[in-house]
Amino acid sequence: MTFRLPPYPYDRLAGLAEVAGAHEGGLVDCSIGTPYDPPSPAVIDALATSGTERGYPASAGSAPLREAAAAWLTRRFALDDVPPSTVAACVGTKEFVASVPHLLRLRMPDKDTVLYPAVSYPSYAMGAELAGCRAVAVPAVSGRLGGLDLDAIDPGDAARALVLWSNSPSNPTGGLGDLGAEAAWGRDHGVPVFSDECYAEFTWDGPPRSVLQHGSDGVLAVHSLSKRSNLAGVRVGFYAGDPELVEFLRAVRQHAGLMVPGPAQAAGVAALADDAHVEVQRARYAERLAFLAGVLADYGCPVALPAGGFYLWVPVPTARWSDAWVMAEALASDGGLLVSPGDLYGEDGAGHVRVAVVQPTERLALVGERLAMVRHG
Ligand SMILES: Cc1ncc(COP(=O)(O)O)c(C=O)c1O
Repeated sequence: MTFRLPPYPYDRLAGLAEVAGAHEGGLVDCSIGTPYDPPSPAVIDALATSGTERGYPASAGSAPLREAAAAWLTRRFALDDVPPSTVAACVGTKEFVASVPHLLRLRMPDKDTVLYPAVSYPSYAMGAELAGCRAVAVPAVSGRLGGLDLDAIDPGDAARALVLWSNSPSNPTGGLGDLGAEAAWGRDHGVPVFSDECYAEFTWDGPPRSVLQHGSDGVLAVHSLSKRSNLAGVRVGFYAGDPELVEFLRAVRQHAGLMVPGPAQAAGVAALADDAHVEVQRARYAERLAFLAGVLADYGCPVALPAGGFYLWVPVPTARWSDAWVMAEALASDGGLLVSPGDLYGEDGAGHVRVAVVQPTERLALVGERLAMVRHG
C-alpha cells in the first residue's frame, strides 16, 4: 500500500489562527513550543565568529562540542563521568527522533515496533511510520500525567520492539516519569530505552533528571539546545549513553551525511558552557506558567501547574464545551489565544488543550484582559 502522510499537526490550526487573529492587537500564539525569547549574546557571538564556515563539520560533533555536552551532562545531573566518546551531535532532536527507527532497524532487522508514550510529541510515532514500522502507544500510569505503564506493554510488542521512547518532563502533559524503572524494564526485555530529556532544564518538581543517572547500559539520553538556550533556529542537539548504541548511530549518521553546521556547533559550545541564561529562562517560564494558570482559572478553566516543561495541560471543562477543539475555538474567539487541542498528541489527549507559555507576559496579560471582558460581558 502506498504510504499516505497525515496532515502536519499544526497545519490543522489555521482556522483557529484566523479567528484569534481577528482581535485588535492580534493573535497570541501559544500553540507551538517554539521559543520567542532571545538566546544569550555570547552564543550569537560564537555563531558569527567561529571561522568554521569553509570546511565540513564533524558529523559526530566537534571535540569541543562533545566535551561541552559531556561536561554539561556531568554537571547538571551529578553524574560521575560521561566520556565525550559516548556523546554525539544531532541536527536538533526532531530529525533524530524521526529517523532513529529506520536506523535501528538496520541493526535489528528482525524487529519492527516502536513503543512510545500514548500522549506525546507526535514525532515518536511518525518516526515509526516513516520507517514502515509499527507504532505502539504505551499508556501513562493510571491517574498520572507522566510515566509509562510498563506493565501494560504486551510481551509480543516488547519482543518486537526496536526502542522504547520516554519523555520526561513530558510534552504535552508536563508529567515526570520513573526513568529508573524504564531503564530497568528495557534491560530486562532487551529493548533500548531512549529518553527524550529536552525539557530537563525546566523541571519544577525537584532537580532535573536523566536516564543516565541509572547507568548507561542499553539507554540513551537525548538533549536539545532548542528549548534550553532558545536556539531552535540553530539546530543543535545531542545524544549520549550506551557506548555501543552511540557508536552505531554515530557511524550510520555519518554515512547519511547528517551534520550540525560548524557555526552552530560553536554556538552550542558557548551555550553549554553557560548556565546563567538558563536560570533567566527558567524564571520567565515559571512566572508565565503561574500567570496564565491564573488567567485561565478566572475564565473557568482551572489547571494544575506542571511538574516540568513550559506547557499548561488544561482539562476541558466538559459542562461548558464538548471537546478540546470547541474549547480552543472559544479561547481563540474570546481571548485571541491560539492553543493546541490535545488530540494532536494522541487520542488519550482529547480531553485537554495544551498552552505553551512562550509569549512574553505582556501578551499573556492581553489575553487575560480580553477573557475578563467576556466574563464580565
Ligand atoms: C518532546 C520533544 N522532543 C523533541 C523536540 C524537538 O526539538 P528540536 O528538534 O528543536 O531539538 C521537541 C520540540 O518541540 C519536543 O517537544
